[in-house]
Amino acid sequence: MNTNTQDSAKPRTASFAQSSSEIVANNISKSYGAGPFAKQVVSNCSFSIESNKLTVMIGPSGCGKSTLIQLIAGFESPDKGKITMNGKPITGPGKDRLVLFQESALFPWMTTYDNIMYGPRARGEDNSEAAELAEFLLNKVGLEAFRDKYPQQLSGGMQRRAELARAMINKPEVMILDEPFRGLDNMSKELMWEYYAGLYEEDRNTNFFVTTDIDEAIFLADRLLIMTNLPTSTRAVIEIDIPRPRRIDDIGNNARANEIKKEVMTLLHEEAMKSFSGGSKAAADFLDAYSKRAG
Ligand SMILES: Nc1ncnc2c1ncn2[C@@H]1O[C@H](COP(=O)(O)OP(=O)(O)OP(=O)(O)O)[C@@H](O)[C@H]1O
Ligand SMILES: [Mg+2]
Repeated sequence: MNTNTQDSAKPRTASFAQSSSEIVANNISKSYGAGPFAKQVVSNCSFSIESNKLTVMIGPSGCGKSTLIQLIAGFESPDKGKITMNGKPITGPGKDRLVLFQESALFPWMTTYDNIMYGPRARGEDNSEAAELAEFLLNKVGLEAFRDKYPQQLSGGMQRRAELARAMINKPEVMILDEPFRGLDNMSKELMWEYYAGLYEEDRNTNFFVTTDIDEAIFLADRLLIMTNLPTSTRAVIEIDIPRPRRIDDIGNNARANEIKKEVMTLLHEEAMKSFSGGSKAAADFLDAYSKRAG
């Protein structure tokens, strides 16, 4: 499959400028609840989201990935350890970090274009620079012909592409995505990977992407963080040294991608087995899904 997202792209606009930010988590722990009902979700966990790289975090279902996003976004604080952005502790939410959740939704009463322009307009920046960037993003996510359509007139995959453009127009220093393509059919998902990677490759701003899908992780990542079972910590870090732009057509035949896939599957299988022996239903489902994929 080839969406030609690179070839059809207009020249890069000056407004899609690069910034350089990093996030470092140092020995953090987090529990929910108190006393005998306390549940530890994160345990002595350290990792870095390096500047101008696409860091993907993969871990068993229910291991604590979204909790780590809550901590990075500043919606929650760690009980122990610290998280810094560019050397300064994260003490709360900020517009320098934008989180795109799986359940993010477009405003149904706005067209695709108006949805994308929502952020700049809310900030009183409805100017030619924002309009130029909106046009650029509409083109990059292949929705030029759907600019005046309402969300209910778009397919699920188109809606996700519009959501990506609506988030990216805000040019956050760090873009954080929590399983944004979960629930899409496989073909739509693969298209999303190419569109999203194309957007990332425009400016290579710091991106942090969380998933449970190995193929998605390897296709997208510059760096891959593999997490342990609950309470989570970093099990391994793999640099994905596969040149960009990557193509869905090619990645299946890429020897390095297949080698990494085997390594990641082994690690995740071990982690899923640990929670399976603990009786977690989510972990059992995860293990089952991966056993089927492994054939
Ligand atoms: N606010 C909360 N209060 C209590 N427990 C919570 C809270 N948020 C998460 N948990 C628990 O923490 C554990 C990890 O949840 P989390 O959503 O972080 O995992 P995840 O890795 O994102 O899972 P998934 O892959 O299914 O999205 C779960 O057992 C969950 O029930
Ligand atoms: Mg989650």
